Amino acid sequence: MAFDRIGYIDKIPNNVDLGRDRVLQRALEHWQPAYMGWWYEMGPAESHDLQVYLRTAVSVNPEGWAHFDYVKMPDYRWGIFLVPPTPERQVNFGVNKGQPAWQEIPGEFRSTLRRIIVTQGDTEPASVEQQRMLGFSCPSLYDLRNIFQVNVEEGRHLWAMVYLLHRYFGRDGREEAESLLERHSGDADNPRILGAFNEPTPDWLAFFMFTFFTDRDGKYQLSALAESGFDPLARTCRFMLTEEAHHMFVGETGVGRIVQRTAEVMAEHKLDDPDHVRALGVIDLQTIQRYLNFHYSVTLDLFGSDVSSNAAAYYTTGLKGRFRETKIDDNHVLTDDTYEVSEVAGDQIVTTAVPALTALNERLRDDYIREVQSGVDRWNRSIAKTGIAFRLTLPHKGFHRAIGNVAGHHVSPDGRVLTETAWKKSEYKWLPSPEDHAFVLSLMTGRVVDPGRFANWIAPPRAGINNQPLTCEYVRFN
Ligand SMILES: [Fe+2]
Ligand SMILES: [Fe+2]
Repeated sequence: MAFDRIGYIDKIPNNVDLGRDRVLQRALEHWQPAYMGWWYEMGPAESHDLQVYLRTAVSVNPEGWAHFDYVKMPDYRWGIFLVPPTPERQVNFGVNKGQPAWQEIPGEFRSTLRRIIVTQGDTEPASVEQQRMLGFSCPSLYDLRNIFQVNVEEGRHLWAMVYLLHRYFGRDGREEAESLLERHSGDADNPRILGAFNEPTPDWLAFFMFTFFTDRDGKYQLSALAESGFDPLARTCRFMLTEEAHHMFVGETGVGRIVQRTAEVMAEHKLDDPDHVRALGVIDLQTIQRYLNFHYSVTLDLFGSDVSSNAAAYYTTGLKGRFRETKIDDNHVLTDDTYEVSEVAGDQIVTTAVPALTALNERLRDDYIREVQSGVDRWNRSIAKTGIAFRLTLPHKGFHRAIGNVAGHHVSPDGRVLTETAWKKSEYKWLPSPEDHAFVLSLMTGRVVDPGRFANWIAPPRAGINNQPLTCEYVRFN
């Protein structure tokens, strides 16, 4: 069956029968060298010709879509993969609920959908750009292999969005696809669209925090789009989610291994003063907490305004659903419902009920926060096991926000509205200071490349990739 197997004989691997649409095929073959040019220039630095033990999709079936082998960078086969269609799928929410899912874009949704797809697509190459120098300071071959895996898959996610742009948006879509390679993370003149994707990712603690917090925003956005009434978008996002799970695994276990290593060193040497902890070459838990506060808060902004008429329109028209929409037991129309959002009243944050349709960003953010909290709980259990009393916490959701009802106010991690002076006094108690960044970077000056060896500041993982031992040569240099 055409949809299960992925054709690797074609220039562009795909399971969408690309060969049948010559115009589309030619347009994508034209974009392909531009993409490779971007990868050479903005992808992982000096990764050329490395042999990396990578996972490549060979089938879109839930079982066995992943195939592991050495791939010479950058010969990874980026392509176009959608999960098979669900027969008789319908629009499952909003005013068009019950209609057959759209296989072509209804004209009136064109510009809205294009904007949604471009915004999602823009995040994918952005994160590759943000991470491009980290190979020089990898804590092990295992971790180096993992970052390359994340990078090639983000590249593939860009392909996924570019396919939709080319296939369904004609000339506008082709222009947008080119712009996706022209904007660059942190570029003063032509930056990426969303704030968190223009922040630097200068070190491995930042990378793991990013994959834990910010890739997970990706998961929630993709999950909401996987419910879309526009069927090709839904099917594209479903396949992207299978790849995304590994990115969050890298983040959660990465932070977890750093936390574990620090707690073990603290317990062994009976220390808790951060300076003493640092002197032993591991990252103090207070600095880890400040990184957490930063990445969590900039990621919360990605969900958008608490009250949003765009979010309401996306839902009402059937373009973007809620997290696990079809599993929710309600009418999937929401016109009579309310939802609680936060706002500032005087020096306090209070909650107020607003129409549920306008609060869908906030609802998705709350779903996300619940999942993030359980990851933090797992990190805390590993600290507790060593007997160390420190616990990591998520700051208040109004802390350090630049978008939404609380933007423009200074909120402490415990949810108090502060004066600017009070904020300034404590800012670097709560967020990483230049000095924190310098310390973390000082631990990560070179790469660890002996198979099975790990940098001092991170514990080894519990198991290797695909049942390989930790001593596996996950990346071959020669
Ligand atoms: Fe992605
Ligand atoms: Fe990702």
